Amino acid sequence: MSRHAKPDHPIHDLIVRRWSPYGFADRPVSAEDLRSLFEAARWAASSYNEQPWRFIIATRDDPAAFERLLGCLVEPNQAWARLAPVLALGVYQKTFARNGNDNRVAPHDLGLAVAQLTMEATARGLSVHQMAGIEPEKAAATYNVPDDAQVTTAFAIGYESAGDSRLAEGYRERDAAERTRKPLNALVFGDAFGTPHSLFE
Ligand SMILES: Cc1cc2nc3c(=O)[nH]c(=O)nc-3n(C[C@H](O)[C@H](O)[C@H](O)COP(=O)(O)O)c2cc1C
Repeated sequence: MSRHAKPDHPIHDLIVRRWSPYGFADRPVSAEDLRSLFEAARWAASSYNEQPWRFIIATRDDPAAFERLLGCLVEPNQAWARLAPVLALGVYQKTFARNGNDNRVAPHDLGLAVAQLTMEATARGLSVHQMAGIEPEKAAATYNVPDDAQVTTAFAIGYESAGDSRLAEGYRERDAAERTRKPLNALVFGDAFGTPHSLFE
């Protein structure tokens, strides 16, 4: 079954093809591909060009490093993410380097950088599965993350293997579940919050 998006309006093929698998093939990601993925993140837009995103990564070919990062995920995410060849934590700097002021939109910028990384991954036949389910304090302690940085998310990178037989039952089902989205008239407003813009009525 195709996991591709079924858009109501035409969109780029990369966006159609991106989805978040639970099953990952037992196949490493090349160093070249990994460098390009983080290069794509690096070139994201950010408020005042602060580039507040930081990443901590581990690959399965370094088992000790991989277990260390895996241990920063909540157990339900560990169950499937341990099959992925690469894991990463997404971190943002909370304040602007130039004046120490609070950077209210730093989480937005981190998300944008991960979105670019995800699209670069899709273009290379790779998949990314992002996670909110982490233990931020444990991750901060494990990696000596300073107080002005916030560990926010994790993501797994690898070659999709939907419904992989090594996956626990529930996750195989999730890899086959229908992908749904809210309609645009519930998302894009005009005169007031909640009132669809006329383009989307
Ligand atoms: C910020 C963020 C946090 C997420 N957290 C989790 C998570 O902890 N565990 C999980 O299994 N999936 C997680 N997901 C994946 C979402 O469930 C998934 O993106 C959503 O269901 C839409 O599916 P799709 O990405 O295949 O379109 C997360 C996604 C994002 C963007």
